[in-house]
This record gives sequence, C-alpha cells and structure tokens, in this order.
Amino acid sequence: MLCSQTRVLLVALPLTLWACTPPPAPQVTTWHKDVAPIIERKCATCHEPGNIAPFSLRTLADWKAVEPQALDAIRAGRMPPFPGKQSCADYAPTQALAAEQREVIEKWVAEGALEGAEADFVPLPGAVDRLTRVDLSLPMKEAFTPTQSPDEYRCFLIDWPYDVPKYITGYELRPGIKAMVHHADIFFLNPTVVAEWERRDAAEAGPGWECYSIPIGQEGSWIGTYVPGNRGVDFPEGTGLKVPVGAKIYVQVHYNTLNGEVGPDVSTLDLRLEDKVRRQAGVQAVSDPNWITQRTMSIPANQKDVTHRFDIDATMFASIINQNFVDGRPLKLYATTMHLHQLGQSAKLEILRADGTTTCGVDIPKWDFHWQLAYTLEEPIVINPGDQLSVSCTWDNTAANQPVINGQRVVPRDRNWGARTQDEMCVAGIYVTQ
Ligand code: HEC
Repeated sequence: MLCSQTRVLLVALPLTLWACTPPPAPQVTTWHKDVAPIIERKCATCHEPGNIAPFSLRTLADWKAVEPQALDAIRAGRMPPFPGKQSCADYAPTQALAAEQREVIEKWVAEGALEGAEADFVPLPGAVDRLTRVDLSLPMKEAFTPTQSPDEYRCFLIDWPYDVPKYITGYELRPGIKAMVHHADIFFLNPTVVAEWERRDAAEAGPGWECYSIPIGQEGSWIGTYVPGNRGVDFPEGTGLKVPVGAKIYVQVHYNTLNGEVGPDVSTLDLRLEDKVRRQAGVQAVSDPNWITQRTMSIPANQKDVTHRFDIDATMFASIINQNFVDGRPLKLYATTMHLHQLGQSAKLEILRADGTTTCGVDIPKWDFHWQLAYTLEEPIVINPGDQLSVSCTWDNTAANQPVINGQRVVPRDRNWGARTQDEMCVAGIYVTQ
C-alpha cells in the first residue's frame, strides 16, 4: 500500500532512493508559518494600532478576538477592500486576496488555528507597495486642527527647494493623525500659477485654506493620492514625474473627524527623487471638460442608472495635458484610479482600440465612496495611436442611495459636477509614459 502510493509519487519525482520510505507527514498549517504572512500583507496595513481600521490584526490574539467577523469579511470578499472586477485586467498581486490565500486561511481554521513557531514566519515574496527610499521629507509648514465636522477639505502649499529640475520616482504621505485623514490628493503646481494659488492661501486666516479645486492641465500635475492603508509607492522602474524649477507642492487633505482622535495634524510628504529617468511619466485626470465648464453631467433627482461617458483620442489627449508627451506616439498605462462621489453606482475605464476591440483598465461594478484605491497593473497596457480612452460613470440618485448626514437621509435633488462631497464627479486617474 505504502509502496504503491510511493509509485504514484515516483512518476512525478523519479528519485529511486525514496521508493519505499513512508511519505512525509502532511504539513499542518500554523499562524506564524502560513497565515500571519498573508494577514500582515493584506490586512495589517490598515488593521494596526492607530490606523484607520477599527481593530488590529497584527497578532494571533488580535485575530482570535474577531475571528468570526474576519472570516465572514474574507468569505464575502468585503476585505481587503478591492471593489474592482478582478477579471478586468491583471493587477499587481499586492491587493486582493488570491483564492489560494483564502484556502490557506480556511484550512488553518479547520485544522484548529494552531499557533506554531514564531521562527517560521517568512514575509510573502514579491514587491510590497511602499516607498523604498526617502530623499526629501516635506512636512506641512504649520499644524492644522479641523474646525468643521464631520468633513473638512483643506489645502496646503509647501515650498519646493531645488533650483534644478528633479524627477519624483516615488512618494508616501504620512498623516500626522491617521484616524483623521480620510484621504489626500498630492500635486505640484507649475511656476506660472504659483502666485495665484498663494493669493488664495493668503486670503484665509490659519494654515492653508478651505478648497475643493485641483490643478488641471497646464496648471500642474497630480503626484498621487493617499488613502488609508497606503504605505507609499515607488513608481514603475525607470519612470518619474518631472518637477520644474519654481514649482510648489500642493496637498489637498480631506479630514474626517468621526473616527475618534481630533487634534493638530502635521502630515508629511516623503519623496524619492532622481536627476534623470528613462521615461517621463504623467499622472493625468481623464474627464470631459464640458462636464466642468458647461455643466453637462446632469444627474436628475429620483433617477438611477444615469450614465455619462467621455471618449477621447488617447495620444492627443496626453499631449494636450502634458507638454512632455507627443501626439501619435504610443502610451504605456501602468495604474488607474476612479473618482466619483457619494451617489456613484458603477465606474469604468476602457481603451477602445482602433480595430474595434476593447481593453478593460478598471471596472468597478459597485462603487463605494470610501474605497478609492489605485489599481496597479501587473504589466503596463500599451495604448496605440488611434485608440481612445473611455471613461464612464453611472449614478443612483434615488431616495434609497442618499447619504445620511447628522442622522437624516438627504432628500434627492438634481446633481451635477462639483468639487464638494455633495456634488458629483467622474474622473479616471492614469499613470502613463510614452
Ligand atoms: C485598505 C485598508 C484595509 C485593509 C487592507 C483591510 N481592512 Fe478591514 N477594514 C478597514 C476599515 C477602514 C474598516 C472599517 C470600515 C468598514 O467597515 O468598511 C474595516 C473593517 C473590517 C471588518 C469589520 C467590518 C466587516 O466588513 O465585517 C472586518 C471583519 C475586517 N475589516 C477584516 C479585515 C481582514 C480580515 C482583512 C485582510 C484580509 C482586512 N480587513 C483588510 C480597512 C481595511
């Protein structure tokens, strides 16, 4: 019996020496060896003391305290939050739980959730999304304490210290008070508009000013976005954003005071820099200028399945928004984000190919305002001259989908484009090079 079993094994592993030795005892899964590496990478980035999630998942005791809920959240696919369709594109493996990882956790629970030996812990292989080197640390100039509750948008300017062009090749925004920083968008302003934005800052008392606008087109460039759980990121190897001499850093922070601690916040932007890169990158916001200037993104009260879509020639668009790009030259798309507000129902970014086919970039079937993650592609998608970028968003403006403010469900009213949370937006963010 033993030998016949071994014969099966021999077909795969022709090692005659093993022919009649007993097969190795089946491996028992343990916390330290099998489960902790997964939880550490996929959960504890948010579930750690002082971070945004409501409890820690750093230790076995932490896990045991919430095991039924944690298993339920994993089985139902609620956690880790990854609202995009996995089948849309091949994403970098650092975000959602893979099916095998879910099976390891189930097997471990079924086997009695054993602790095992701490020495068996080995971190998961592969790149972790995090900033690997800090060349410049830029704290906010003054601490800011929110005065509005629950939400306040505040913008801060930070000086740029270099008198030669530099390339940003990675960033991390470190919130001063993690529980209070709901998210932050980080930009640099081009020298031509710095004076105007300084006037806006000076016009209001206190550090920074209340603001909803972001620099568009020639005004500046997005660097990235901080959302809870984000530990910063290195941009794809050999790529970076060129910051001109005379620029200023501009950070728009959305503070939310409902998670507990409220106090003076000094958030810090850490940057990795190079003097040269192989490919200049652009972080671009893709949406219809008519939605903004002509208010054509109408979302009538009491209607659902309201869709607006914007298609544009990709290489032409890139060359208009970014002086470093030339129309008619292929683009490489490395990562995308989508941005809608509270009434969003679903959202999509697609590449409509010149030959009539479609390539999916990101597809979020059930929009959730609280999870605005970046979708990083395993391999960049090549966008050829003649291809179009297509952004589409769908809203539900019926009574059932309204936000609750101060315990009261808002009454549906007509909505349109606007930067405040109670307005709506439809923007795809893309990280591209030529
Ligand atoms: C990007 C940050 C982030 C990651 C990663 C994350 N969580 Fe969460 N989690 C949160 C936040 C924030 C909440 C509270 C808000 C909410 O319920 O949506 C939460 C809530 C929960 C809850 C209670 C609510 C529910 O849906 O049941 C459980 C259980 C949970 N997380 C388990 C996990 C597990 C297990 C993992 C890893 C497999 C994980 N989380 C990964 C941020 C995160």
